[in-house]
Amino acid sequence: GGGAAWWGRKHEGGDEEARDMRRQAASLIFLLLLWGLREAVANRESVKTVMAAIAADERFERRKDALLEAISCGADRSKKGSFDAPIQEMLEELNQHPDYVSTSSCSGRVAIFWEPVTETGKGVEEGEGLEEPEDQKEQKKRCKGGQWLLCKHAHVTIEDVQQALALRPAEKGTAYFKHEPFILHVQCKSLEAATRLMEAARDAGFRESGISVGRKHVIVGVRTSALRMEAPILVDGELVVSGEYLAILAGIANEKFTKNKEKSDNLHRILRKSILSPPTGCEENDKRAQDDDDDDGWTIACNPNICEEIRKILCKSGDLETRYRNSKLEDGKVAVPLRREALEKLKESTDVDDELNFIRSQIKHGNCCLVKVDNLPVAGKQIKRSPHALLVEAVKQLLTANGHAMPEGKTLEQAGVPRHWEEFGDLILLPEGSFQSSPWDLIAPDALWSAVARALSAKRVAVKAEVDEGRMRQSHVTLKFPPGGDSWVQVTQNGITYSLDICRVMFSRGNVNERARMGTIAAAGETVVDLYAGIGYFTLPLLVQAKCSKLFACEINPDSVEALQRNLLANRVADRCHVLLGDNRETTSLLDRSAHRVLLGLLPSSEQGWPVAVRCLRDDGGWLHVHENVAEADEATWLRQLEEELEKIARRQGRGEWRARVEHVEHVKTYAPRVWHLVADVEMRPREEGS
Ligand SMILES: C[S@@+](CC[C@H](N)C(=O)[O-])C[C@H]1O[C@@H](n2cnc3c(N)ncnc32)[C@H](O)[C@@H]1O
Repeated sequence: GGGAAWWGRKHEGGDEEARDMRRQAASLIFLLLLWGLREAVANRESVKTVMAAIAADERFERRKDALLEAISCGADRSKKGSFDAPIQEMLEELNQHPDYVSTSSCSGRVAIFWEPVTETGKGVEEGEGLEEPEDQKEQKKRCKGGQWLLCKHAHVTIEDVQQALALRPAEKGTAYFKHEPFILHVQCKSLEAATRLMEAARDAGFRESGISVGRKHVIVGVRTSALRMEAPILVDGELVVSGEYLAILAGIANEKFTKNKEKSDNLHRILRKSILSPPTGCEENDKRAQDDDDDDGWTIACNPNICEEIRKILCKSGDLETRYRNSKLEDGKVAVPLRREALEKLKESTDVDDELNFIRSQIKHGNCCLVKVDNLPVAGKQIKRSPHALLVEAVKQLLTANGHAMPEGKTLEQAGVPRHWEEFGDLILLPEGSFQSSPWDLIAPDALWSAVARALSAKRVAVKAEVDEGRMRQSHVTLKFPPGGDSWVQVTQNGITYSLDICRVMFSRGNVNERARMGTIAAAGETVVDLYAGIGYFTLPLLVQAKCSKLFACEINPDSVEALQRNLLANRVADRCHVLLGDNRETTSLLDRSAHRVLLGLLPSSEQGWPVAVRCLRDDGGWLHVHENVAEADEATWLRQLEEELEKIARRQGRGEWRARVEHVEHVKTYAPRVWHLVADVEMRPREEGS
């Protein structure tokens, strides 16, 4: 057709012009072809991009499903295998959001990590257990051989620390006391979702947070290094810090833990405001609150940690529905009953300045919501009574039933009704003088003591007398109920179990810190002599926790020895302890020059044992732990005299010139006003020539 004619037409201007036109046409066609080709390629690219995005979404959904399923079976990616309780709610809300799934987390922990010393002399590095899934195999490899002696997502006590150290492996190793702050890894559906999360994390003060973009994943790491702490406490198997220092570390770690909790709670609040919707059910319930005219069952559903505060506020403002008790909801929240009239008040704007403001702001931030609960538990008339009140009521009733009355003009305590007592499991130990003399002697003893046991929900009741200040420190306790019953009790302190017959041996709770300290003494490999072992108060920590090689336990009271032997077996250290029954001045005759360390735990004074102790010390000297009750004003004098006297004893025993130095004084407890139970840690060594 026309095209061909145009193409083939000969121009009047001659051949040259026609050739030009053909050339131009050809380049035009070429350009058109090129453009078409580029469009086609571009289209294919955009199709590819869309396909890739769909695949990425699907991959994210699949991975999220898999992760959530694993979590529902209790297998979060972190070592522990589940969400930590303090952040469970936040993570559950985050995982409900279509753009996010958490892959690993830790709410923050106080921990002790132990690692063996490798052949190169270096410890292995421990894994945090919090890294990205890809890194986890590597982490496990690095963690091999090391172990967590302690790992708590809560405050720790010095007892926790002592117990953890007692469990350390026998081989040489290094241990670090740590506080590790909150950390969270979240896989995000898109870079935009990741950016939003990152911004929230930075706003909450998690400044070291970051996004990592891989081929298949976008992951946000929410972290801060601000609250980290790590201190070596064990080097080459030896504890290199004192008990006091461990207590300081525990205190610092606990402080950091509290700050860390505030920080992660803040993150939760910010996430709720910026990304997450309030807990499901709130909106519907808010609507129900507007529509419903049924008065009953309205509550404020809140987290258990603030329910008491909410209850108090409602009580103060007169909005608490006192006909009902708080009720625990299925999602772990607590429903605090509310009067119908309060619904309106709570809907008022937040700038109304009244008691309910706190609750309003909590509702606004999604921390609480209005929920209607069917069948709220009805409040009983009984108010919770203190054990003391229950005891008073029970014994008064008993007196009345027997035709007697409480003595007039006397306080309860003067009348023999105790205010305080000690508990040893199911046994209540009442103070001296409890229910003694009139009017109690008018009641049949069985009736009296069984009533006391019932009132205090105890199975056994015993009454104390002063500890006999004689050298055996015998217990004067009588079991009152059940008559002729078993009076053995068990106490666990710092991870060590002590059994004793409370009617035959005394138990002194006041020395708990000193017992813990003895567990941290660097006595591994040593031979120790405990001159006044009792039921094993210091003997056991030295064997179980300080891991001395051998301990000679001297004790004169057969009742204490019976308990000591039970306790050595129960704590599995009997093989390293030799019990010497009798007076230590005689039983130690074969122990001359054998001990690295001697304990002198006798009060009010252990002076009679000083010569025995010096005699037992090895030729190169060692340590004495000397107990004494000392008036505050006399402390310095006593310490000086102690050093002088110990040096004199060495001279008298023909051991030559020794030097005694008090290296530390432990103030265990006050024994009387301004009188301290002291322990002097004395290092005694032969003097070098010329010193
Ligand atoms: C203070 S108590 C118990 C010890 C424990 N260290 C404490 O602080 O709770 C002292 C113990 O030393 C024993 N004891 C006193 N004089 C002794 C002696 N000469 N030889 C051996 N044991 C003795 C007593 O029987 C008593 O059990």
